[in-house]
Amino acid sequence: MKGVGKFGEVMAGEKGKVSYDEVAARLQKIIHSGSQRKAITDFVCRELRKIPHYTWVGIYFVDGSELVLASWSGPMATQHTRIPIGGGICGAAVTEKATILVPDVSLDPRYLQCFINTRAELVVPIFRDGAPIAEIDIDSDQANAFGPTDKDFVEWVAEDLGPIL
Ligand code: SME
Repeated sequence: MKGVGKFGEVMAGEKGKVSYDEVAARLQKIIHSGSQRKAITDFVCRELRKIPHYTWVGIYFVDGSELVLASWSGPMATQHTRIPIGGGICGAAVTEKATILVPDVSLDPRYLQCFINTRAELVVPIFRDGAPIAEIDIDSDQANAFGPTDKDFVEWVAEDLGPIL
């Protein structure tokens, strides 16, 4: 079963010690706080980035045939603030209506480069009434950074976010 208290793992990195469950508890609080949508997506990006191997976190919204960057947290801004749904790993996640985990971006022809240091990427669609309305995009500077816990964890965040966006 997914949810707070279910992810266990504690990680230590440059950003200090953090566990998925601590991050999950803070996310759950803000997601259900009744705050404005932009305040919530900004917080979600900042909070997710506390996980050591999450280098850059963004939330894109589907807007017609494009994805538009709404919130992000990371060492630098991306030039890809609008991505056609036919492009990149971000576009593919919407087209396929599925999470896409890329262990090595240099081997994926769909990859659209934002940052020179990105080695792995995880893109999780956010659904409302079965349709993808947004997505969480996470870049990591570590190759093979994302495992099954990351997929389950970020999918749980996306499921929690869907109804309030
Ligand atoms: N790498 C993404 C583009 C977005 S940046 O990572 C922020 C892609 O392939 O769609």
